[in-house]
Formats: sequence, structure tokens, C-alpha cells
Amino acid sequence: MSRMLNISDQFVPWSASVEDCLPILERASIKVCLVVNSVGELERTITDGDIRRALLSGLGMKLPISLLPRKKPIHLLETSDSFAILGALEKNDVDFVVLCDVTKRPVNIVERKSFQSEILLSPPHIGEQELNFVKQAFEDNWIAPAGPHLQQFELKLAKYVGRAHALALSSGTAALHLALRVLDIGRGDRVYLSDLTFAASLQPILYEGATPILIDSEPIGWNMSPQALRIQLEKDHCSGTLPAVIFVAHIYGQTANMNEITKLAELYGIPIVEDAAESLGGEYGGRHSGSHGILSAYSFNGNKIITTSGGGALVSDNADLISKARKLSTQGRDDAPHYQHSSIAYNYRMSNVLAGIGVGQLNILSQRVSARRKIFDFYRSELCKIPGISFQENLENEHGNRWLTVVQFDSSLISIHPYQIMKRLKQKGIETRPAWKPMHMQPLCDGFELATHSAEEIVSARLFLTSLCLPSGSSMDQLDQARVVKNLHKIITEG
Ligand SMILES: Cc1ncc(COP(=O)(O)O)c(C=O)c1O
Repeated sequence: MSRMLNISDQFVPWSASVEDCLPILERASIKVCLVVNSVGELERTITDGDIRRALLSGLGMKLPISLLPRKKPIHLLETSDSFAILGALEKNDVDFVVLCDVTKRPVNIVERKSFQSEILLSPPHIGEQELNFVKQAFEDNWIAPAGPHLQQFELKLAKYVGRAHALALSSGTAALHLALRVLDIGRGDRVYLSDLTFAASLQPILYEGATPILIDSEPIGWNMSPQALRIQLEKDHCSGTLPAVIFVAHIYGQTANMNEITKLAELYGIPIVEDAAESLGGEYGGRHSGSHGILSAYSFNGNKIITTSGGGALVSDNADLISKARKLSTQGRDDAPHYQHSSIAYNYRMSNVLAGIGVGQLNILSQRVSARRKIFDFYRSELCKIPGISFQENLENEHGNRWLTVVQFDSSLISIHPYQIMKRLKQKGIETRPAWKPMHMQPLCDGFELATHSAEEIVSARLFLTSLCLPSGSSMDQLDQARVVKNLHKIITEG
């Protein structure tokens, strides 16, 4: 069994070779060898990077470390405070510092990650009221998928988004699934779906055995392309294969061009279901995102603009559809004194405890939207100075909630690959993610039709291959935002 290394196990003399350093680097939790002289003073450090560079330039494993290119060790006195340590990490742009005693003997190694917390993509941001609602549910013993918070949450949500009815559910995916069920979509039906989205938009279509037809993105707002939609509708109209419904996803908080999409849907008499999982609080044409389709789904997953830890909702102005969905969400119990069921149904209801969190979160939704929009504005104002960087834009009449800020890198101007950028940001404790992988590129979608925005390119594929989502949580402070910008800037300019 291998034991933890003591700091002295990472010491190497000047007479050591590259080969001698490898087992130490392999076993040490902080990947560094400390070269000490005959009286134990720190003289240099050797990292994975030093070894890699030596081997790449053809120097063999037997090379004495004394022949490696010289560099000074970054070290501080062991009594240094965290301010001084962070300063040294930043100034030298390194990930660790060696702490030495007054005689320059190494006594400890400290890493950046123990001083700087990781900046996550979109962590939950819970306010103070939420706990009180949860406590109240416990006190009143409403620990069930029924209760006053649930009712309050539904009323509040419907009012906020300007819909007549809301049904709180266990997830956004459940909401999309019930939308299909209440519209009687099933085997043999075709469903148009935004190509650039998360797989949760697609899965319910597959649950029901319907056939997805994927519609490419437009290049400004990145959502369903009205141009691609029109071409596909014309084609399917001619062949008598029009879809039963159009599923439009509003990705990263930006609402699709609902003006054009609605006109086209109305022309062919096809209902629209909005996947507004990511866009709660955004607006389009003076109305809330998720208030345009016959039914719309929201998600309250932990990473969303507001959360109930996990949850979702289906909203509509059609009382009948919501009432059907309500029944299907609670095992489809018929109106009888005993347990009688005449349709396949689900256990999809949100619990009263989680709805309490939702009530508190809805109270501060506007603040969360404004915080995310400010983060977007900051990133944009700082990063747009770099040639080759662009952003997902608001469409005309649209104001996104900026759930996530996504940057696009033009590969003709920025040579470093987005995945390299992602990896290097990760090393600096900054989480980023590639944009959604379009549905047409998913193994799950082999053989499904794709309508492209233009004959020249598939926009969704380009967006996926060239973009990264940046940390955008509403609790991010200005220092963290500046840290993201600084590191991204450095990585891109250094290449
Ligand atoms: C576009 C989109 N649709 C649907 C969902 C599903 O929501 P949930 O995770 O609540 O099931 C999500 C989020 O996870 C999403 O991002």
C-alpha cells in the first residue's frame, strides 16, 4: 500500500536524473520535485511540464536535472499569510508556492486551489426566505406532493409568467413529457425539435415513440431557425407529412424568434410547445419567455436561474390541458371512490417542501435575472476587445435572462481549441462547458432528419464546436468575474 508522501520525500539532489523524478511526480499529490543543495536549501522546482519539455526536445530520461533550463523556485517564508501567498501565485502565474523556513529549507507546499475556491458554472443561489418556507412545511407536516406551498407556487408562477395555469412537477423533463401526452402525440407522429438543445428536450419524444425532425439554429440568437423551419414545413406539407407539434427550445435563456415561428405554425395549424427550461425570466415581444406556445415547460433543476433543487412546471392558458396533465402526474386516478385507473400515468408531482423553496425563489427571480444580465454585460464589455470572440445575441424584441453566458471563438483568429481553453481554465479553478452538442450529432438521433439553416453549413454544429459556456451563477462576485476574464484573456493571447 502506498503511503502519503512527506515533504522530504519530494526532495531531490542536483545529481538526480529526469528518470529519478518520475516516481516522485507520479506519487505526490502536488506534482513537483524540490531540488535541494547539500545543506537542504531549496534551489529549484521540477514539474511535469519541465520533464515533458525536456523529453519533447529529445533529451533522454538519463539527463541530469542540472542540465534542465534554469528557473528560480517560487517560494515564500513559512510565516506568510494567505494574502501574500495569493499575491505570489497571481504575480508568477503558478499553481503552487513552496513555503520555506528562515534558512530556505522547504517545509510545505501550498496549492492555488486551497486559496481560491472553484468558480462553478451555475451553482444554486438560495436566499434567506426559502428555509422559512421549508421549516413551515415541516411544522405543518405538509411533507407530501400536496399542500399549501404547492398551490402558492403554482399561482405565483402562473402570475409571474402571465399564464392562466401552472402545474408544478418533479422535473422539466416530466413537464415536456406531459405536454406530449396531453396533446396525444405518439407513435407515428412527427415532432419538430430545435437541434441545438439539451437531450431532455428530445427524450420525451422518444418515450412516446414519436419521430423527431431536427431543426437547425439561426446564427444570431442560436435558437430554432425560422428559415429552416419554413423549408421543412413546405416540404412536409407537399408530402403530407406535417408534424403533430413543434417543440421549440430557448437555449441559455434566450428566446427563439417566436414571432416568425408562430406565424409559420399558425399557417399550417400546428401547435407549439416551448421548452423554456432555461429561459424563465427572459422576455420576447413584451411577454415572458414560455408564454407563447400552447404549453410551455420550465425547469427548477439545481443549475437553473431559480431552483427547487430539482423540479419543473408546465404552464398554459388552456385549463383542460393542465387538468389532464395534473391527472397524469398523479398516476391518472379516475374520479371514483376507490383506486381506479384507466390510462398509463406517472408519479411526476413536485413535493410541497420543494414548492416552498420555489415560492421563496420566485420572490427573488427578478434579482437573479438582473444579476445574470450584469455578468453577461461585464464579460461582453471585457472580452469583446479580443478579436475572434463573439456572443449569443438578443433578437429584435427579445431580452434573454442570460442564464449562461456563452462565448464563441472564431478559429481563424483564435488558434487554441475551445477544449484546450476549457482544460486550462479548469487548472485555474474555473469551470466551463462546451455548448450543447446538437441532437443531430448524438448517437441517439442516428437516422433522424435535419433541416439546416442554409445549404452551406449546419449552424448548430459550428456553435457546438466553437463555443464555451462561462461561469454565470447569480452569486458570482466581481472578483470572480474578473478572474474568469483575466484567465481567459491570458490563455487566448498566449495561445
Ligand atoms: C433545454 C432543457 N430542456 C429540458 C431540461 C430538463 O429539465 P430537468 O432537468 O428539470 O428535467 C433542461 C435542463 O436540465 C434543459 O436545459
